[in-house]
Amino acid sequence: MALVYPRKIDLALTPTPLQFLERATRRWGGEHRLWVKRDDLTGCTLSGNKVRKLEFIAAHAIDNGYDTLITCGGLQSNHCRATAFVGAQLGLQVHLLLRGDPPNVREGNLLLDHLAGARISCYPKAQYVKELADLFTRWQAHYQEQGLRALAVPTGGSDGLGVWGYIAASQELGGQMSAAGIASAHIVTATGSGGTQAGLTLGAALHQLPATVWGINVCDDEQYFMDKVASDAQDWRHRFPDAPKVAVNPRVIDGYVGKGYAVADAPVFTLIAELARMEGLVLDPVYTGKAFAGMLAEIEKGRFAGVRDIVFVHTGGIFGVFPQAAGFDAVG
Ligand SMILES: Cc1ncc(COP(=O)(O)O)c(C=O)c1O
Repeated sequence: MALVYPRKIDLALTPTPLQFLERATRRWGGEHRLWVKRDDLTGCTLSGNKVRKLEFIAAHAIDNGYDTLITCGGLQSNHCRATAFVGAQLGLQVHLLLRGDPPNVREGNLLLDHLAGARISCYPKAQYVKELADLFTRWQAHYQEQGLRALAVPTGGSDGLGVWGYIAASQELGGQMSAAGIASAHIVTATGSGGTQAGLTLGAALHQLPATVWGINVCDDEQYFMDKVASDAQDWRHRFPDAPKVAVNPRVIDGYVGKGYAVADAPVFTLIAELARMEGLVLDPVYTGKAFAGMLAEIEKGRFAGVRDIVFVHTGGIFGVFPQAAGFDAVG
């Protein structure tokens, strides 16, 4: 059965480059060559991995008569910021349900959310965790009373629709890998709500990439992401029953969350600064910095032994650097 993509709206600047990291390879690669898939370059305010998912989600919203997007995340959510700008670009209202008390100073992604004109509702963490599903339902009902139609977009845009973004990205990457002479590879990504990993895992199978996909979790644990990737894939199969049947074997590398979600240790800040100077590549302390640190530690341990090439998917997150500027004080 041929793979038929649903409609998407072109929002991301793709294809993003696949770049060889020459100095990082010398410094940390050992037997491996290190590559980076520059999905931090999918755009400016629409940068990072979320845009790829939102291309399909926004098309679905418009094709089904929705005029409003409601989504959720942390105060510094990259997904919420990207959704806010997708809405602004397409003339859709956006309402963000954010986890945490509103800070005195708007910065990073939260500042951009405001600039994009998103409506913002902040909820204390305990309430957010307990009531999130209800909050979506209540706000959808609220918009309905006003004669509007609001689509509930899940955390990170990660579901059976959003995964198309990284199914498409896998196809793009597969072509770039063969052009670069990569015969087999490990593909490594940060995983936070699971959709990028699920899309890459499905995409690698659908497009027969000679690659193993790994998610390095930045919150929760291995079991959570095994289940989440499986359930996103299941949702995808359910929504798109005519798509080819492929087996999904999620692979999660746990152990690099550190003290908790969005809390990075000094070595992560040091690594971010080192890579910025070495390769001109900016990681963030919430997602890509931890995942890159985890990838380097796993290279040391020999997890990827026997396969020459490792492709790190840079999923963006640059605006997350600014609210954590103090973390770089000790780096100099
Ligand atoms: C910069 C960045 N990288 C990686 C991720 C993880 O992607 P996903 O939510 O699809 O697991 C996210 C969002 O959670 C992100 O904002």
